[in-house]
Amino acid sequence: MTSVQSIPSPMLSPAEQRKVYGLLPTSVVAISGVTAESTPTGFIVGTFQSLSLEPALVTFSIAKTSSTWPILRSQGRFTANVLSNRQLDVCKALGRKGEEKFKGLDFDQTAFGTPHLRNAVAWIDCTVLSEVVAGDHFMIVGSVNAMKVGSGDALIFSGGRFGDCNLWDPTEQQASATCEPSLLNRISDAWSRAWGEGDTGAFEALVAPDYVRHSKQGEMVRLPEMLLQIQESHAAFSDFKVEILHATEEEGLISLHWRTIAKHTGVFMDVPPTQRNVTVHGASFIRHRNGRITEEWVVWDPRELLSSMHIWHLGNHKVA
Ligand SMILES: Cc1cc2nc3c(=O)[nH]c(=O)nc-3n(C[C@H](O)[C@H](O)[C@H](O)COP(=O)(O)O)c2cc1C
Repeated sequence: MTSVQSIPSPMLSPAEQRKVYGLLPTSVVAISGVTAESTPTGFIVGTFQSLSLEPALVTFSIAKTSSTWPILRSQGRFTANVLSNRQLDVCKALGRKGEEKFKGLDFDQTAFGTPHLRNAVAWIDCTVLSEVVAGDHFMIVGSVNAMKVGSGDALIFSGGRFGDCNLWDPTEQQASATCEPSLLNRISDAWSRAWGEGDTGAFEALVAPDYVRHSKQGEMVRLPEMLLQIQESHAAFSDFKVEILHATEEEGLISLHWRTIAKHTGVFMDVPPTQRNVTVHGASFIRHRNGRITEEWVVWDPRELLSSMHIWHLGNHKVA
């Protein structure tokens, strides 16, 4: 292990530095390996990078306070799992201290000896080549043994928020590549992922601090209550699927016409589980400002839900 000489720096607090470095978007990479007893473990870094192509070398920095790095170092190998925008749960599990960090995570054990987290966008198997003590961090250099590409889009961390990369279409002129069309896609995608899969990371990243959600009944909720509503819906229904039937934008107002199909397996609206397959249609109207969702109005007809639970007969009523 080598050490870089520390040069006296001006009086910059860690908080000030974090604020500035937070402006740099980073990838979110799970460094995984095993303990001496072959138990999988790991941690998250935003500092993973390619360092050299010939020979193939990579680098990342890890705080000296990390309790997991000494374990992986002693095994001499690790895998860099490049997390996808659908793996916020993995990031949360490995980006904290604690025992059994891999509990509940899906992974494959490899011949290389390190776990590969399922659904990552890439896996890079490395041997620890060298390590530099740099201030309060260790800078690790890894020699790449093998790499494999998965699918999906990489998870991005920027300014304290998670999201994914919104790349310009190369066929469009840069000047005309405004945020508007892609923002519609991003909002509609994040919305359906939040309601359909309970994966609220991308939606949370798109919401403005003053976000308000209005219901037809005049109820107004903020983000935490909205997230609770998603949880409650998923607790009461299994096989929850949300389909966006139509997504349009006019004069800054996004309209999402959606259909939800699920199985009623828990209490909802005071109705005990009927085990019926239910369908609900509805629409959400979303306002945004500076690329962030500020307000949302949602309409859906509870009669349609009660009808598919066989509790209410629609008769001649037709639900739109
Ligand atoms: C998005 C994100 C990026 C992170 N990047 C780094 C990093 O580059 N270096 C680091 O030391 N810690 C980083 N962390 C924090 C570590 O993942 C966390 O401190 C580590 O899991 C601590 O656990 P350990 O003591 O088991 O190693 C990051 C966390 C998150 C959520």
